Amino acid sequence: MQGPDFLSRSVRYSFFVICALAALISLVVLLATGHGLFWFLPLAALTGLGIYDIYQPRHAILRNYPILGHMRFFFEYIRPEIRQYFVEGDLEAEPFSRFQRSVVYQRAKGVPDVRPFGTKLDVGAADYEWVNHSVQTTSIDSHDFRIWIGGSPDEPNPGKSPCTQPYDASVLNISAMSFGALSANAILAMNKGARDGSFAHDTGEGGISRYHRKHGGDLIWEIGSGYFGCRDENGAFSPERFAEQAIDPQVKMIEIKISQGAKPGHGGVLPGAKVTAEIAAARGVPEGVDCVSPSSHSAFSTPMELMQFIVRLRELSGGKPVGFKLCIGHVWEWFSMVKAMLESDITPDFIVVDGAEGGTGAAPVELADHVGLPVQEGLHLVNNTLIGVGLRHRIKIGAAGKIITGFGLARMFALGADWCNSGRAFMMAVGCIQAQICHTGFCPTGVTTQDPVRQRALVVADKAPRVTQYHANTLNALRELLQSAGLTHPDELTPYHIVRRISDSRIRLMAAVMKSMRPNAILDDLENQQRIFRLYWPLASAHSFAPRMSMAGEAPLDPSQEQRVHKGGSRASPEQIARVLHTLHAPHPEPQTSVFPEQAGDPEYVPQDASSVPDVWTDSGAEDMAATGEEDAAVPEDKQ
Ligand SMILES: Cc1cc2nc3c(=O)[nH]c(=O)nc-3n(C[C@H](O)[C@H](O)[C@H](O)COP(=O)(O)O)c2cc1C
Ligand code: SF4
Repeated sequence: MQGPDFLSRSVRYSFFVICALAALISLVVLLATGHGLFWFLPLAALTGLGIYDIYQPRHAILRNYPILGHMRFFFEYIRPEIRQYFVEGDLEAEPFSRFQRSVVYQRAKGVPDVRPFGTKLDVGAADYEWVNHSVQTTSIDSHDFRIWIGGSPDEPNPGKSPCTQPYDASVLNISAMSFGALSANAILAMNKGARDGSFAHDTGEGGISRYHRKHGGDLIWEIGSGYFGCRDENGAFSPERFAEQAIDPQVKMIEIKISQGAKPGHGGVLPGAKVTAEIAAARGVPEGVDCVSPSSHSAFSTPMELMQFIVRLRELSGGKPVGFKLCIGHVWEWFSMVKAMLESDITPDFIVVDGAEGGTGAAPVELADHVGLPVQEGLHLVNNTLIGVGLRHRIKIGAAGKIITGFGLARMFALGADWCNSGRAFMMAVGCIQAQICHTGFCPTGVTTQDPVRQRALVVADKAPRVTQYHANTLNALRELLQSAGLTHPDELTPYHIVRRISDSRIRLMAAVMKSMRPNAILDDLENQQRIFRLYWPLASAHSFAPRMSMAGEAPLDPSQEQRVHKGGSRASPEQIARVLHTLHAPHPEPQTSVFPEQAGDPEYVPQDASSVPDVWTDSGAEDMAATGEEDAAVPEDKQ
C-alpha cells in the first residue's frame, strides 16, 4: 500500500513542490549573481498560490492539487467554447444546434444558405417531419405575408368593446425581451431592423425605453405584473400613466403578460445595483432600488376581471388591439378564461401562446426544465378551444418557442397560429453566439449586458440590417415552402400538410396526431370530445381561476356506457348555453356542476391536496386510440 500511496501523494503535490524548489533555486541564483529576478518572481507567486490553495477551505480540489487544480477551473470555464467549436455535432441542440445557428447567421448576413449534397437529417428517424408538396405548385409574389389583428378596417370584430385600430402585422415578429435583459444596443438594432422590415418589436415587460423609441419601429407594449411604465408609487396599475404611453402611435398593440414559457408562475427581481437611471426611467421605478415583478397580476384576480381589464386597456389606448401572452398550465384556468369570454362577450384581440421551450434572461432551472406546456400542445389546445366555442374568428393566435426556420413557422401555422414570434433567433441575428451567460452581465457579444464597454461589441449600424435580413430571408424560405406545397398564404396551412414519422415503418399526418375540433363542438357536443375537454371544461368557472369542486347534484351515470352524462350532451340550444352560463354565477364551489366521472361514487369528495387528486384529473387528455378506434376512422388518408 505504501508504494501507490506515496506515488499518488507525490503526483498531487508534485507541481507545487517543483515550483517551490525552482523558486528556491532561482532565489539562491539571484542572491549569488544578482540575475534571475525574471524567473524568481513568477515562481515565488506560484509557490505562494500553492500554499494558499492548501489552506483555503472552499475548494477541495485545490487543497489536494495545489496550483494544478486551477487547470480544472480553467477548462471548465472554456468548456462551452471548446464543445461548440470542436466537439458538438451539427444537429445537437443545446438549445439550438450549430445547424440552426448557422441558418440564422447566414440569413441575417444575407449570404447563401443553400444546402449542397442533400439533407443531413435522418429521414428514417422517429419524429422526422416534412411538408407534403404538390404537383400544382404556386408562384407567390411577395414574402411579406401579413394578417390583421383586432378585426380589420372594413370589419371590426363583433362583441363588446371592439378594437378600433386594428394592426396590419407581419407573420413573424420579435418576441418580448425587455430593455434590462437586453442591452441598449441590442434594443436599438432590433427596433431599427423591425422598422426597416415592417414588422413588430415586442418591448418585453420592462417598459418602453428611449432605445425603443429612437428608430420608431412598431411596438407591441407588454404589460407584466410589475406594470413597468404604467404603475403608481405602490406598484399598482396606473390608468393615467398607461394612457400617456399607449396612445403613442408607435405603440400598435398591448400585450398583457400572464406567463412566459421559460418560467411560468415566476416573478422576478432586478437587483437594485442593476437598476440604472435608464432602466429606472423606462420602468417608472426608483433608481438603485430592487425592482420586483410579482408572480401574478394585481389588476385582476378572476377571469371576468381579466376581460374587464382588456376592455379598460383597449379604451385607454384609444381602441388598439389588446391581448395576452401565456404558457398553458392548469387547463381549467385556460378554460375559465374562455368561459369568461363567452359570458362577457369580451374577447382579447390576440393570444400569444408561449412554449416551455422558450427562452429567458434567467430562470430557476426547475421552472425552465419542468414547468409549462410546450408550444405545440399549448397552441393546439388554444386553437381547438376557440374553435370549439365559436370564438376563433375573433381572436388571432401568435406562437413562440424555438421558432427559427421557415419550416418551424410552417409547423406553427399548420397547428393554428396566425403569426409567430421569435426571441433568440433575433438575438442571434444581432450577434449572440449562445455562450449562455446572459444572466452574468458578461455577455461576450454585447447582446445581454448593461456594461457600456461590452455593448460596444454590438454595432447598431451593422446589426440592424441583419435583423431585417433574417426576417426577410426566413419569410422567403417560408414562401418557397408554400409554393412547393401549392399554397399561397401561411393561413392555408393545416395539420393535413405536415407529416411525421412515428417509427421505422409508420408515418402519420399531423392531423391524425393532433386532431382538430369541429366548430362549436364544446358547446354542442361536449361528451363526444377529447377527454381533456370532457374533464376540464366543467371544472372551469368564468368567475374564478380555481377549479370548481363538485360536492352534490352530480349528473347521473349512464348505465349503458358506465359513464356520466353531460348536462349539455345533445346539441346545445342558446337557452341551454345561457342556463349553463347562469349556473357559473353561483358561488364557488357550487353544487350544480355537471361532470366529474371520477367522483361518481362519492359526491362529497373534494380533494384536499395534490396527493389526493385522482389520477384521472391529471390525465393529459390524450385519448386511448386503440380502445376507441377513433384514430383510423378520423384520418384514413394518412396511411402513406
Ligand atoms: C433574454 C430574454 C428576455 C426575455 N424577456 C421576456 C419578457 O420580458 N417578457 C416575456 O413575456 N418574455 C420574455 N422572454 C421570452 C420570449 O419573449 C419568448 O417568449 C421565448 O423566448 C420564446 O421564444 P424563442 O424560443 O424564440 O426565444 C425573454 C426571452 C429572452 C431570451
Ligand atoms: S452571447 Fe451568450 S451571453 Fe450573450 S446573449 Fe447570447 S447566449 Fe447570452
